[in-house]
Amino acid sequence: MDKLRICMAGATGWAGTELSKGIYRSQDMELAAAISRSNAGKTLGEVIGIEGLSAPIFGNVEDALQARPDVFVEYTKPSVAKQHVLSALRSGVHVVIGTSGLSSKDYDEIDEVANNVNRGVLAVGNFALTVVLLQKFAEMAAKHIPHWEIIDDAHSGKKDVPSGTARELANRLSKTQESKLDVPMDEIDGPKETRGARLQGTQVHSIRLPGYVISIDAIFGMPGQKLILRHESGTSAEPYVSGALLAIREVSKLVGLHRGLDSVMKF
Ligand SMILES: NC(=O)c1ccc[n+]([C@@H]2O[C@H](COP(=O)([O-])OP(=O)(O)OC[C@H]3O[C@@H](n4cnc5c(N)ncnc54)[C@H](OP(=O)(O)O)[C@@H]3O)[C@@H](O)[C@H]2O)c1
Repeated sequence: MDKLRICMAGATGWAGTELSKGIYRSQDMELAAAISRSNAGKTLGEVIGIEGLSAPIFGNVEDALQARPDVFVEYTKPSVAKQHVLSALRSGVHVVIGTSGLSSKDYDEIDEVANNVNRGVLAVGNFALTVVLLQKFAEMAAKHIPHWEIIDDAHSGKKDVPSGTARELANRLSKTQESKLDVPMDEIDGPKETRGARLQGTQVHSIRLPGYVISIDAIFGMPGQKLILRHESGTSAEPYVSGALLAIREVSKLVGLHRGLDSVMKF
């Protein structure tokens, strides 16, 4: 069986390096090309310290797509992610998006192009299994508890707000119902910002402080009781690898945009 050929944008980054190693270790896929502006012209193996990993690094998406990959993995920054994804789709390549910070409008446009070119896009705000489980538990809770809010904590250097995990969770919960506000936003006394941002029917509060890594709380409140679903990430990118490999293996079975790893998992 031919190996799946992967082109990864951001293969030299914190998350991309770990995934590159995971792809290198896999029997059924290989890295055909990588994108990193500061390492263009080198091989990926030279940069991330794997002898024998000869995938060339390019400085832009157009050159990298000349390697004719089967799947394009986007793991860079939200400011450039949409352009990368649309270029890959227009070259007939399926796409896995790990980058966080794309807006609902970006996803609408990506979905339209993916459907037009009959290719699949799997966008996963968080590839970790424990986060996938938190999402499923939160969806169950939202069917029974109409009041909830999300708190998204991260280190002070994380620029994108809220996190991809929080955006994805808000998007999922919106499919069940909008979270109820007993005092509507236009009836609040005081600065409205303190109540967070309303994202697809959920109040989301982002904290960015030194001392935090990354965590998320989905809080469901009922009179006299509350349910808090909390996920905490460590400092390693390892927990994201197996979910990303699964997404890469499955994305070519999809057409259009699908969000969340559970689109390709059995529960
Ligand atoms: N879905 C998940 O489970 C998950 C897990 C971890 C991280 N993430 C998300 O993944 C993204 C990457 O995170 P990270 O921590 O790995 O970032 P990082 O360490 O800063 O790495 C970014 C990578 O993207 C490349 N890059 C940046 N800007 C680029 C541009 N304009 N054109 C081409 N390449 C560019 C960088 O190389 P050059 O600077 O050399 O170009 C580098 O290889 C973030 O959005 C993060 O939130 C998602």
